[in-house]
Amino acid sequence: MIRFAHFSDVHLTSKHLGWKVRDLFTKKATGWVNVKLLGRGSRFKHAPLVVDALLGEFRDGAFDQLVFSGDATKLAFENEFQLAAAKLGVGDAALPPVVAVPGNHDYYTRPAFRAGLFEKHFAPWLDGLRIDHHTYPFARKVGPAWFIAVNSATPNWAVWDASGTIGHVQLERLEKLCERLNAGPRILVTHYPLRTAKGNLEHPTHRLRDHAESLDAAKRCGISLWLHGHLHRGFVLPAGDAIPFPVICAGSCTQTNRWMYNQCELDGHTLRVRRRRYDPAANRFDDAEEWTMELPVKSSQAHS
Ligand SMILES: [Fe+2]
Ligand SMILES: [Fe+2]
Repeated sequence: MIRFAHFSDVHLTSKHLGWKVRDLFTKKATGWVNVKLLGRGSRFKHAPLVVDALLGEFRDGAFDQLVFSGDATKLAFENEFQLAAAKLGVGDAALPPVVAVPGNHDYYTRPAFRAGLFEKHFAPWLDGLRIDHHTYPFARKVGPAWFIAVNSATPNWAVWDASGTIGHVQLERLEKLCERLNAGPRILVTHYPLRTAKGNLEHPTHRLRDHAESLDAAKRCGISLWLHGHLHRGFVLPAGDAIPFPVICAGSCTQTNRWMYNQCELDGHTLRVRRRRYDPAANRFDDAEEWTMELPVKSSQAHS
């Protein structure tokens, strides 16, 4: 049996963003107006306090692994990455190991993406088996299970565009990587969802653009479970005809009144998921909903 926790969308920021003149001509300027003047920032005003409570859970929870599905920052300033990495304890040996992927806010502008700021500040969370020098995808074995991290975030030019894509080149690498993995359930981690909580496709400006190709590749890779973030309210989609494995959204662990993350236990092919919800009055997380499900594992991937 392994125990892991899945958290997402912390959206930490810094008081001192470190503006440069060239930033005024990028999406960071309109994004800042959105965060500061139009109220989006106030949704995360308790984030530092909630992250402290979250790390307390991680230190005491006897987890074998943590999974972070992206959006560490708001506007991808280097000062935000520095603060987020320090606040989340990146590199802290007292915390369980973490598998992470970037979110669209971590690639908010093309220069932030090109500079590899997420990869620089979260490097210890990106450790695993990979194809050649390519950062994504990478895979890490934890007990009998494989966690497979895939980057689905892209820098987008338009301020209203929060869509993402994995891309056929990375999907090809994913299939190549999966061919090299030995037996055990395969847990895919992305920032973007395949579907909404109701099982629908997301709005085009918010969705995974190559969702169909990504689902096909996941089927060929024998994926048993898909974990993601991006949508700030968590949900569980059971396996069905269209998607033959469960899909679980962690929700945002720091957004006011949504603050949640998932604790998971994988015993053989049985997955138990317990949502933990933050209680601001007590400044701690408490048990909320629970689910139990069987993960599909291809016979060729099952342990004998
Ligand atoms: Fe987010
Ligand atoms: Fe996102």
